[in-house]
Amino acid sequence: MASITVRDISKGFSGQPILRNVSLDIRDGEFLSLVGPSGCGKSTLLRIIAGLEDQDGGAIEIGGRSVDAERPGRRDVAMVFQSYALYPHLSVYDNMAAPLRQRSLTQLQRGFGLARLLPEARRKEAEFRREIEATAAMLGITALLQRKPAQLSGGQRQRVALGHAIVRHPKAFLMDEPLSNLDAKLRDTVRAEISALQRRLGATFLYVTHDQAEAMTMSDRIAVIMEGRVLQIGTPSEVYHDPADLRVARFIGSPRINVLPGEVDSTGRPTLLGHAVDFKVPSSAGSRVQVAFRPHDALICSADDARLTGTIQHMENLGSDILMHLALPGADEPIIVRESYETAARRRLGDKVGLKLDPQKLLVFDEAGSARLGQDAPVKTKAAS
Ligand SMILES: Nc1ncnc2c1ncn2[C@@H]1O[C@H](COP(=O)(O)OP(=O)(O)OP(=O)(O)O)[C@@H](O)[C@H]1O
Ligand SMILES: [Mg+2]
Repeated sequence: MASITVRDISKGFSGQPILRNVSLDIRDGEFLSLVGPSGCGKSTLLRIIAGLEDQDGGAIEIGGRSVDAERPGRRDVAMVFQSYALYPHLSVYDNMAAPLRQRSLTQLQRGFGLARLLPEARRKEAEFRREIEATAAMLGITALLQRKPAQLSGGQRQRVALGHAIVRHPKAFLMDEPLSNLDAKLRDTVRAEISALQRRLGATFLYVTHDQAEAMTMSDRIAVIMEGRVLQIGTPSEVYHDPADLRVARFIGSPRINVLPGEVDSTGRPTLLGHAVDFKVPSSAGSRVQVAFRPHDALICSADDARLTGTIQHMENLGSDILMHLALPGADEPIIVRESYETAARRRLGDKVGLKLDPQKLLVFDEAGSARLGQDAPVKTKAAS
């Protein structure tokens, strides 16, 4: 297994920059997810690491060795694509054997059936069989080895594609949205299987997904890429609880984070939607800030008990919880608050309610959203706003 170093990689297509000086250190044995909106260059970066695409600038190292001059086959990384290309006319067994035969057998041995009977080829085939059977057992696909891909379910096909990558014992796995073709239930199952597999193999995984829930549950660390740059790299908990940039805060977390613009008054407190609130922010008087909070970090109260008030516009039933969408006068988008089913059952669409924020849980950013501002303790004991 091996570490992967991505240093200052830049890449554009037809003069349009896609990746701008992207740097990443993926440790040996680490599971690192790459997340970001569609089109931000995730697949492009993976293809550059695999050697399927040339970078315009920067360098790639695998296992501490520069691979920029090496063709894909020599880089010894296994790429698993979203649409796992299996050979339809070959059995599962032969699909898994293909990369091994490709690598080990001479063209003569591969091309002519008879040549496979030669002692050297037979010894190698026996080796492949042991490898394929052990991998199939690990993935729970032993019973499927003689089937053709068309006779498999989506999840089974996905496991075969993984098997195809694993038998080669690559230095690292590069996975490009490998679960996006599966239905929700199967995705949960295969997701858990991939995590377990990674732990068992102790392998280095670079895993691309635009499903942030997938990234949160599987990764040691997550790198958030947007507009061609790495905005933040950290543990799932760091990117969720401690986002460095408002774009990261907006991207990570479902339902999305709430954001209210504010202006700091002469006492250091921000005015949100025209209402002064009871906490200070570390920004000078007159400066504009963006105050963000997660749907479970706010409370709905009586309209008489809060300065921020609004009406219930929509209720989204998640089963155990309800997401309340509040329309606040002056706010660009509804504020989402998560409530228990019991609490929400008392409420009706159109009710006028108050919104209480927990000052300890607020994330305050500068006006551009690109810098996180530290936060003072609340100046009053009474809950803010
Ligand atoms: N060979 C190519 N020629 C021209 N433009 C390309 C090429 N490959 C990718 N692009 C463009 O580069 C950008 C990044 O593409 P990429 O496939 O890396 O995005 P992505 O982050 O993987 O998106 P998604 O989440 O939709 O898979 C896109 O705007 C895409 O249209
Ligand atoms: Mg992609």
